[in-house]
Amino acid sequence: MIVTIPGGTGMLGRDLARVLAAAGIEVRALASTTCDVRDRASVARQIAGADIVINCAAFTRVDDAETEREISQAVNVAGAGTVAACCAEQGIRMFHIGSDYVFDGESDRPYRENDATGPLSAYGTDKLDGEIAVLDALPTATVVRTQALFGVHGRHFVRAIMAACGRADEAVRVIEDQSTCPTYTGHLAVALQHLIAVECSGVVHASASGSCSWYELACAIAARTGSEWPIEAVPTSAYPTPARRPLNAVLDKSLYESLTGHCLPSWREGLDAYLEEAHSRIDA
Ligand SMILES: NC(=O)c1ccc[n+]([C@@H]2O[C@H](COP(=O)([O-])OP(=O)(O)OC[C@H]3O[C@@H](n4cnc5c(N)ncnc54)[C@H](OP(=O)(O)O)[C@@H]3O)[C@@H](O)[C@H]2O)c1
Repeated sequence: MIVTIPGGTGMLGRDLARVLAAAGIEVRALASTTCDVRDRASVARQIAGADIVINCAAFTRVDDAETEREISQAVNVAGAGTVAACCAEQGIRMFHIGSDYVFDGESDRPYRENDATGPLSAYGTDKLDGEIAVLDALPTATVVRTQALFGVHGRHFVRAIMAACGRADEAVRVIEDQSTCPTYTGHLAVALQHLIAVECSGVVHASASGSCSWYELACAIAARTGSEWPIEAVPTSAYPTPARRPLNAVLDKSLYESLTGHCLPSWREGLDAYLEEAHSRIDA
């Protein structure tokens, strides 16, 4: 089996390539310089011969998407649709990575796949339009919505907190009224491996088990790393950002669990796995 990954050199793409290759799958992880999803001819050429395409390509700078509308839409909407259209033409099965930011965060329970969407940000709007573009071009595609990713190949909250503790000259201020499911990319990669092994289509949620606030996550990072640096819980209103984020972004994973028979590890297990991997890289 050949799996081709546009965006294959990003944070998720690299862990996905590693996990699938370790399972004996032939993986073609494509850099944006080799396969630009804004260039249909390049996409068609680069995915030729694949059995499965997993699109990890995205413009992921959430706050910048508020002002950089052209590139965010070109990659996250039109680009996603282009990958799907090329897969449709070539009879290739496709998976596309979606986001929890398609929801408004007002729900008092975890979000199911068919719950009403209501993005609060330009990025969330573009990710939602990207899902629609993918499923319009290829109704058999699977959109895997996930959230709050961290892995050894990217910039993310866990790394930022580890860097901030001890460097700032006062307490690190962290939002306590937004809930999420922080997900280690190594664990999401295994979840994607499970999904390609079963029949599925449409939208499926996949993220770590359990949920927490960013503040709880920061405290867990400090505890795991032995940092005694003070961490101060603050409300979202004290930490304004260009893009609004949902307060409750917790995804319900029942569909993923019934499709695959698996449950993603908890966010705490993800944090441990990430720290172990990060340390082994420093030691090596
Ligand atoms: N990070 C999160 O917390 C999070 C949460 C929910 C969902 N997601 C979704 O998960 C997926 C993977 O995200 P990630 O965190 O791995 O992001 P990432 O590290 O920023 O990786 C994105 C990849 O897309 C590539 N890319 C950008 N523009 C491209 C283009 N025009 N053509 C082809 N490739 C292009 C990037 O290549 P260059 O580096 O060369 O630009 C990079 O390899 C995305 O769909 C994202 O929306 C992420």
